[in-house]
Amino acid sequence: MLVALAAKRRGAAYAEARSLIASSESNYEIPLMRPLLPTLDATAKYFREIDERRWYSNFGALETRLEKTLAGHFGMPEQNAALVANGTTALSAALLAAGAKPGTRCLLPSWTFVASAAAVRAANLVPHFIDVAPDSWEIDPNHLRKRADLDGVGAVMVVSPFGSPVDTRAWDNFWSETGIPVIIDAAASFDTVASVAQSFPGRSPVMISLHATKAFGIGEGGLVLSTLEDVIQRVRRVCNFGIWQGPESEILGYNGKLSEYHAAIGLAALDEWPHRRAALQSRTQRYVVELERLTGVTMLPRYGDGWVSTYCTVRLPANARDVAARMSSMRIETRRWWQKGVSAQAAYRDAPHDDLPVTAELAEHVLSLPFFHDMSDEQIVRVIDCLVEALS
Ligand SMILES: Cc1ncc(COP(=O)(O)O)c(C=O)c1O
Repeated sequence: MLVALAAKRRGAAYAEARSLIASSESNYEIPLMRPLLPTLDATAKYFREIDERRWYSNFGALETRLEKTLAGHFGMPEQNAALVANGTTALSAALLAAGAKPGTRCLLPSWTFVASAAAVRAANLVPHFIDVAPDSWEIDPNHLRKRADLDGVGAVMVVSPFGSPVDTRAWDNFWSETGIPVIIDAAASFDTVASVAQSFPGRSPVMISLHATKAFGIGEGGLVLSTLEDVIQRVRRVCNFGIWQGPESEILGYNGKLSEYHAAIGLAALDEWPHRRAALQSRTQRYVVELERLTGVTMLPRYGDGWVSTYCTVRLPANARDVAARMSSMRIETRRWWQKGVSAQAAYRDAPHDDLPVTAELAEHVLSLPFFHDMSDEQIVRVIDCLVEALS
């Protein structure tokens, strides 16, 4: 009886989730995102390799090839790149690998997606939320240096907002000066990390998400890059149950390995990347031109400045929640991705935090507009026309 009831409830929850998806598919004239991963045809030759080899996970040939090719894409040798199951796992593995002491505090922005904080807790650190700078929407190493409480800090997690560049050298210097390991959550920065010199990976491990919604999407996946080979080696070990040379677990670890199937999609996505990047760049430039006709609307810091992502995020001169509701009534889907910041979310309300005035201001005014690589010019113009109306 109880089992039947639970199954019924599960069924109802599933039906509700499906109907939400169906309504978002059908109700919006322009959806927020339309991810498109490599098709069956594009991936077939790689899947055939898996069939022939009968090797499906655990550092297989495709995973190794993808890792090496991606390392090269970022101008690094293969020892400097580790592919893992997803971005969140990659972040917690990077924290452990960089030497963040369990039980200590990790300073990170509240202005991020909840995954950043989840990874901190998964690595057994205490998230302590701090504010971002108003001009970059990122935490600032010069502010951090002045803190009186750095003694009990075991790590710093920097977050790139929606693909905007992070100054990796400045953070490497912070690590050297203070001895506090830094890791960089650059989830949406696949292209930024390769294209913007200031964001090229240094010592501080950089995490890039390969989730389906990201510029280089493979379904689920995460990449860690660092010039410190031993850190990358430890990321691999953490994501293999702590096991490396021998049969026994040597350090704390779990299963964070990337399967051959995801690697197959990744190799096909690499074949398509030049095309995909050009399309994303053309859509970004069109948005930049259209957004210039709006007064009071500013773009994400350094948006369109030589890098691409799958987001078009703006700061509005009005309440973003109200504008989102008006856009929705015009059948344009938008999203306040980071809500009020992570520290305001139920699961993290008990975590220590600073005063967060900039985060509160961004939470009130920032909105992401529809963006996908095959958006037409007409769709972009329509989004902007609706935004003008919603703001008036
Ligand atoms: C800022 C940020 N960090 C971490 C993640 C987690 O990445 P993944 O979904 O690959 O676990 C995301 C995902 O969107 C993100 O936006």
